[in-house]
Amino acid sequence: MKTLVVCNWKMNPSSWKEAKKLFEETKKAAGKARSVSVVVAPPALYLRELSKLARSIPLAVQHAHADEGGAHTGEISLAQAAESKATYAIIGHAERRAQGETIEDTNKQILSALAHKMTPILCVGESTRSIQGEYFETVRSQVKGALTTVPQNRIATIIIAYEPVWAIGAPRPMAPRDMHEMGIFIRKTIVQGWGDVGHAVTVLYGGAVDSTNAAQILDEGDVRGFLVGRASAEPEKIKALIQSLS
Ligand code: PGA
Repeated sequence: MKTLVVCNWKMNPSSWKEAKKLFEETKKAAGKARSVSVVVAPPALYLRELSKLARSIPLAVQHAHADEGGAHTGEISLAQAAESKATYAIIGHAERRAQGETIEDTNKQILSALAHKMTPILCVGESTRSIQGEYFETVRSQVKGALTTVPQNRIATIIIAYEPVWAIGAPRPMAPRDMHEMGIFIRKTIVQGWGDVGHAVTVLYGGAVDSTNAAQILDEGDVRGFLVGRASAEPEKIKALIQSLS
């Protein structure tokens, strides 16, 4: 199975010219790495133009509204994102939850993404950790709440990106051993609600991933790939990251 690298560019780069260059470099690096498959999540404004540059690199929308239309100034819908050639949808990123997005919102977005034939990438993760281990409960309620009413035959298509909020933008990622434990916990949570298909769910890790640590997390962390912020938004860094995994 290929290692999945989802490039979350966030609100970068600042111009179309740079976006095109970053995409071309990412595509080139991905083309050389047979064991890696890459998805790019650019700012939504760039989706359609980027889709013309490469069929081999699927695109993701970073966030979109579940409603088909309506009075939501500044929002775009998952329907519009799908029409603009996004085939994946990042849902519930910590930076969206910090803006007030709720578990109920993530559920509606998952259902809308599935209705528009997109692959949801559901982000979950606790803000802090203590030795009491209450972060497991936080992750469980994010996973179960977002997947409520998702039919069993669609569960295996959903990707879960576990991103502890304290590791996003941090100098170092979480320890692979802890990732391993959380990967098992997430799959167990889904198996409890939806049965054995839960074992097939793809779990990614996100938070301070780069070329110096990704291979070790992949070896020891029981993950199938990564959601990458900073190291995906500069040509040299994404090239090095993809190379380190191939
Ligand atoms: P980072 O961000 O790789 O810059 O830590 C990860 C994310 O927010 O998805």
